[in-house]
Amino acid sequence: MRLLTPLALGAVLCAGATLANGDLPGDPVSGKRLAGQCRTCHGIDGYAKIPVAPHIGGETAGYITRQLTAFRGGTRVNEMMSVVAAGLTDPQIADLAAWYASQQATATLLAEAAAAPPLCVTCHGADGIGRTGDVPNLAGESNIYIDTQLKAFRSGKRVHEVMTTIAADLSDDEIRAAADWYAAVRLTITPP
Ligand code: HEC
Ligand code: HEC
Repeated sequence: MRLLTPLALGAVLCAGATLANGDLPGDPVSGKRLAGQCRTCHGIDGYAKIPVAPHIGGETAGYITRQLTAFRGGTRVNEMMSVVAAGLTDPQIADLAAWYASQQATATLLAEAAAAPPLCVTCHGADGIGRTGDVPNLAGESNIYIDTQLKAFRSGKRVHEVMTTIAADLSDDEIRAAADWYAAVRLTITPP
């Protein structure tokens, strides 16, 4: 086996900044076609059509890939998504992730909005846009969706090294307050 030249190694490290280890680079054009299967719930542009489904336009390719892989592998479970993800191949997941990640998500706070929940700001941002590639946007997600996810982390139905610990200490009232705060942020998703 040949050793990586410094140049090739640099390229690998750069790719690692946006894609997790092992993620394939996807084709957004193919992803847009495949997104026909997602449109009734997430829209072609990733703006959710039903309150129990999240907005996914503008999430990073790495985050989308990890969630679809988790639904397919059974480590994250949902009656709708487990069925959808079961039928997806790795290249299709990469293409779908590339398409939805090519959207741009921007958040606008209401003029009278209080500051974001202090425990969450370092990762989810002052406006609900994730600060790093592995942190999802919460801006404009429905309070039902956010409430459901926090309770899933708290009960162990959904597992993540950071969020499981954070949710374990949240009361129902704190969960509701955080969910209502992020749901009140206006999310705009702009096509590529
Ligand atoms: C019938 C409705 C439905 C369809 C069709 C559907 N989804 Fe979903 N999706 C959901 C729901 C509901 C959730 C929330 C699951 C949960 O509560 O854990 C979700 C969650 C997700 C998530 C996790 C997002 C996050 O913020 O964690 C991703 C990624 C996703 N869907 C991608 C897709 C893709 C890509 C397709 C098309 C191939 C698709 N979905 C088709 C309903 C749907
Ligand atoms: C240290 C960083 C960090 C902090 C602090 C943090 N989160 Fe998270 N959060 C994450 C990461 C990373 C994920 C993605 C988990 C995964 O990959 O399944 C996440 C996921 C979530 C999700 C699921 C979103 C989705 O689209 O499915 C919700 C809801 C959430 N966090 C709410 C909160 C709230 C509310 C707080 C404050 C009380 C908080 N988080 C604090 C890092 C953090």
